[in-house]
Amino acid sequence: MAGARARRFYTCGCFYTDNIFLQDYRLHVNRAAAPDLRPILQSKGCKTEEQFKEVQAKIDQEVQRRRLLSQASLERVAIISAHYKPLNPAVYILQENFLAPEFREIVAYCRSKDADFEGLLDRIQSLPAKRVYSFPVFTVEFCRQLVEELENFECSDMPKGRPNTMNNYGVLLNELGFDEMFITSLREDYLQPITSLLYPDYGGQGMDSHKAFVVKYAVNQDRDLSFHYDNAEVTLNVSLGKDFNEGNLYFGDMRQVRVSQSECVEIEHRVGHGLLHRGQHCHGALPISSGERWNLIVWMRSSQVRNQLCPMCDRKPQLEDAVGFGDGFTATPSEDQRPSVDVCSLN
Ligand SMILES: [Fe+2]
Ligand SMILES: [Zn+2]
Repeated sequence: MAGARARRFYTCGCFYTDNIFLQDYRLHVNRAAAPDLRPILQSKGCKTEEQFKEVQAKIDQEVQRRRLLSQASLERVAIISAHYKPLNPAVYILQENFLAPEFREIVAYCRSKDADFEGLLDRIQSLPAKRVYSFPVFTVEFCRQLVEELENFECSDMPKGRPNTMNNYGVLLNELGFDEMFITSLREDYLQPITSLLYPDYGGQGMDSHKAFVVKYAVNQDRDLSFHYDNAEVTLNVSLGKDFNEGNLYFGDMRQVRVSQSECVEIEHRVGHGLLHRGQHCHGALPISSGERWNLIVWMRSSQVRNQLCPMCDRKPQLEDAVGFGDGFTATPSEDQRPSVDVCSLN
């Protein structure tokens, strides 16, 4: 990266105002709408003035956390890169032998000049939910090694960020140093040939950034995940194990279509297998009843698609400076001339 100026990515301003998740009420809210929230909050059990004030304080607290997020993340990266001792340094650089042989064959097919959508469908599993597909990605042995490494990090005294506003347990893979040599290669060299055929209408040929994290579910931690959509054009979700019972994923419809949880389709997930789905396809995870469930999530983004319309606020994105990939928005060349920190030096 030295010498060449890295492409700059941005966040949309709605990140600081919209889609604030209230865990107690399982509700996403926008800050500006806070005064109008009373009826819906009341219907969900927020009855007293005190409870309502608590909600407002939580919204303010979350906005404040988001404002400080980039700086806090940079500080964690600096500490982790200087002091964290990996248990298994080899897992940080993507190797072909981490990949399931079937996955390598699927990718080889997608890269071939005769590849087409029907041919790919013969090689992967189409699930009962619309445009959700499954195929092996990693070997079970690699999944075990990766979880072992993540547990080593979890047990260390290193600073940890939350994967996103809905998951409290897990690891932000960019902070741990997986982005450049692992996830970027996985996205560009292996996943993009697949998404090009499956999701050309969602930017499948131009997945130019990502946010990758591992989420952990355990009985005494996060047990499930509420119905939601992702800040992504296409999401890859790989089951890494370990042993757990129940906790299936379920899919509804695209976010524009209202669907109740009872109308959803349940999907079983196997260790090492990945599910691909459109980011705006609403989904959730049922509670696990025992054990621990770890999943690798890659939110893939296409700047070409999201520059038109931010998927989180449905408006033209209001670009705000960000570190790393931000939320995957890019600017026109003239907008990019604005002086700012060089993202290269921050990674
Ligand atoms: Fe998700
Ligand atoms: Zn937005």
